[in-house]
Amino acid sequence: MNKLKWGVLSTANIGLEKVLPAIQKSENGVVYAIASRNDRTARDAASHLSIPVSYSSYQDLLDDPEVEAIYNPLPNHLHIEWTIKAMEAGKHVLCEKPLALKREDLLRLMKLRDRTGLTVSEAFMVRYHPQWLTARETVQEGHIGKLKNVQGFFSYFNDDKNNIRNIKEAGGGGIWDIGCYPVTTSRLIFDEEPLRVASILEYDPETGIDRMGTVMMEFPSGQASFSCSTQLVPYQKMHIFGTKGHLEVEIPFNAPPDKACRVFTSQGELYSKDYTPMDFPVCDQYTLQAESFVRTVRGEQVNHVPLEDALKNLKVLEAIFKAGKSGMWEDVE
Ligand SMILES: NC(=O)c1ccc[n+]([C@@H]2O[C@H](COP(=O)([O-])OP(=O)(O)OC[C@H]3O[C@@H](n4cnc5c(N)ncnc54)[C@H](OP(=O)(O)O)[C@@H]3O)[C@@H](O)[C@H]2O)c1
Repeated sequence: MNKLKWGVLSTANIGLEKVLPAIQKSENGVVYAIASRNDRTARDAASHLSIPVSYSSYQDLLDDPEVEAIYNPLPNHLHIEWTIKAMEAGKHVLCEKPLALKREDLLRLMKLRDRTGLTVSEAFMVRYHPQWLTARETVQEGHIGKLKNVQGFFSYFNDDKNNIRNIKEAGGGGIWDIGCYPVTTSRLIFDEEPLRVASILEYDPETGIDRMGTVMMEFPSGQASFSCSTQLVPYQKMHIFGTKGHLEVEIPFNAPPDKACRVFTSQGELYSKDYTPMDFPVCDQYTLQAESFVRTVRGEQVNHVPLEDALKNLKVLEAIFKAGKSGMWEDVE
């Protein structure tokens, strides 16, 4: 079967550094075209990554009939606008997280998807990594007893005022950027939706973005909590606790594409080293994401993150912001 031709909106770092090389390694897709607002930037990126076609406008790329699917890594506040434009041009879209900042936008997108039959997916690459799929399976098979608690941490340090993460109007802030990961993975592991959340959010007085947050989520069958920060030492970990055992996902989110990943399991012996590592062969979660996306486009029933899931995640993020303001528990509605 012919490889699907991808077009890329912008020369975003995540695209150039991770996602485009990953698509180029995929078995069913090629990076055919890239667009930037600046002609020189587009040509440099195309030359650097051996991409055949470059455009100096996003719309010109969308107008190219050869392009079948779009990868959209624009700043968060532009995700919806350009995903809609891409769909109106008849393209499937893999859009970076968070796909939307308002639920009305996702509902609008769902209608457009249903009318056009196009595939739209939120780029939560972690949900394709075997370490997460195995962690979920391990829990579902009862190896840690009854799942009761998930705890996580995700942080990095970036106070560059010009970075999109620190620009409020561009959808910046820690919850949108990284808080979304412990939320999506907690939902994945519980295989349920949280009922209500509480949160403490600290805002940067200069930029107005949330720079540190601590969140509690009540699920029907247990509890989850996490902290995240954009101005702390880089760290990430997820712990999954059951009545009889514990899992620790060593590098839960930025799993390296060139090193084996590990999930540790323990049965609760406090003073003995009973941490057994489950080793996962080297894989690139961005390649797995791209391959699943193309297979979904081609009508196969495979793992992907549809708009329905994006909406469930967004509802939790909205409740987190609401709880941060009210200082109360807020329902996830
Ligand atoms: N899944 C992951 O692992 C992961 C990791 C990092 C980031 N992300 C997501 O990917 C997206 C991009 O993040 P990034 O850090 O790669 O961003 P970035 O390097 O700042 O790139 C964003 C690009 O958007 C274009 N752009 C268009 N309008 C812009 C505007 N008003 N301001 C700034 N840039 C504008 C620019 O490209 P041109 O100049 O070429 O037009 C710019 O290079 C975000 O949604 C982020 O949440 C995902």
